Amino acid sequence: MVTRSNLLCILVLMVIVGLESVSASVYNENMESLVKARRSLLNNGLGNTPPMGWNSWNYFYCDVTEKVIRESADALVTTGLDKLGYKYVNIDDCWAEQTRDKKGYLVANRTTFPSGIRALADYVHSKGLKLGIYSDAGEYTCSHRMPGSLGNEEKDAKTFAEWHIDYLKYDNCYNTGLKPMERYPIMTRALMKAGRPIFFSLCEWGDMHPALWGSRVGNSWRTTDDITRNWDSMVSRADQNEVYAEYARPGGWNDPDMLEIGNGGMTYDENVVHFSIWAISKAPLLIGCDVRNMTKETFEIISNKEVIAVNQDRLGIQAKKVRMEGSAEVWAGPLSGYRVAIVLVNRSILPANITAHWDDIGLPPNTEVIARDLWKHRTLKKRLVGSLTEVVYPHACRMYVLKPVF
Ligand code: GLA
Repeated sequence: MVTRSNLLCILVLMVIVGLESVSASVYNENMESLVKARRSLLNNGLGNTPPMGWNSWNYFYCDVTEKVIRESADALVTTGLDKLGYKYVNIDDCWAEQTRDKKGYLVANRTTFPSGIRALADYVHSKGLKLGIYSDAGEYTCSHRMPGSLGNEEKDAKTFAEWHIDYLKYDNCYNTGLKPMERYPIMTRALMKAGRPIFFSLCEWGDMHPALWGSRVGNSWRTTDDITRNWDSMVSRADQNEVYAEYARPGGWNDPDMLEIGNGGMTYDENVVHFSIWAISKAPLLIGCDVRNMTKETFEIISNKEVIAVNQDRLGIQAKKVRMEGSAEVWAGPLSGYRVAIVLVNRSILPANITAHWDDIGLPPNTEVIARDLWKHRTLKKRLVGSLTEVVYPHACRMYVLKPVF
C-alpha cells in the first residue's frame, strides 16, 4: 500500500536521481569540451624526435631550382649525412609560379622546376630521403613571388599530398591581420584530411607565443625571427627559444630557425656552439649551407654523431640555461638512462673557467659520474662527484654527457 510517507520518500528519491543525472550530463559535457580543447588537431605521428635535414633558404634564398634540390639530395647521400639522420630535403620560398592555374591550383615554376614537384619527390624518395615544401598562411609568401595558401588550404594540402610531399613549412607573411591561431589550424585540418602524413612546421616567428598553442597545431614552431650568419644573431635566437623549453616534447618542438653552419660569418668555435646549443635544445637540425660544396670543418661539425644523439634522445626534453655568471653559461637537460647533457658556453671575449654544479643540473650532489666529452670524443679518466669545471675559450663551448655510476 502506498502511504503518504512512502509517497514522499519516492518523490524525494526521484528528485535526487533527477538531479544526479542532470549534474552527470553537465559534468560529461564539461569534460568533453575540456578534452576537445586540449586534444591535438594534428595527429600525424611525426616528429617523435626533432626533424633533421636540409633547407634551401639560408644559402640559396630565391635562387632555388630543381637542379639544386636534386644535387643537394645527392650530396646528403654521398657524404653519408643521410645515414646520420638528415632525411628531409626542404624547398623553401620561390618554387612556384606567381599565379595559380585556371582551377586555382599552385603550379611549380616552369623555368626553375620544369619537371614539376611530383617528379622531384620521386627522385628524392628514390634516394631514401623525404621532400619538404613551403607555403604561407597569408595571401602571398614572404618573398612575394608566390601565392600564399590562406583561403586555399584544402586545395593546397591536397596538392602537396598528391605530389607526395612529406614536410610543410608554413610562413606568416601577408597575413591580412587575422590571428595565427585562426589561420594555422585551418591548414592543420586540411593536412589531416589530405590523407598523407606531412610534418607541419609553423613558421610564425614567435609573434604570438606559438609554443603555447603550437603542439595542438603543428610538429614544430619557430620561436624567433630569422637567423642571420653571425654570433649575435645565433645566440639571441638560442636565448629566445630557451624561454619556451617546457613546451617542447616528442611530436612538437621549439624551432630557433635553421642552421647557419657552413655559410661563413662565424668562426669554427662559434659554429660548434651553434650546433651544440641547437642539439641540446632539441631544435630541428636543418642544415642551411650548400651541402654540395661543404668544407671539411663544416662536415665535421654537422656530422658529430655524439652531439646528434643528444638531439635525437628519445626523452625529447629540451635543455635549459641553468646557471649564468656574467658571460659564462651552463645549459643542461636530462637524457634517457638517467644521463644528463651539458654545454658550458663562454660568451665573453676572454677565456673563462666554467663549472657545472650537480645541484644545478639535476643530479644529487654525491652522484659519481662518468663524463664523456662530445667534441673531443674522449671519456674523462677520473670519475667526477659534485661538479665539473673546464676552461672554455672565448665564443666557444664544451659539451658533455654525464652518466651516473650506480
Ligand atoms: C621568412 C621565413 C624564412 C624564409 C623566408 C622566405 O622570412 O622566416 O625562414 O622562409 O621567409 O621568404
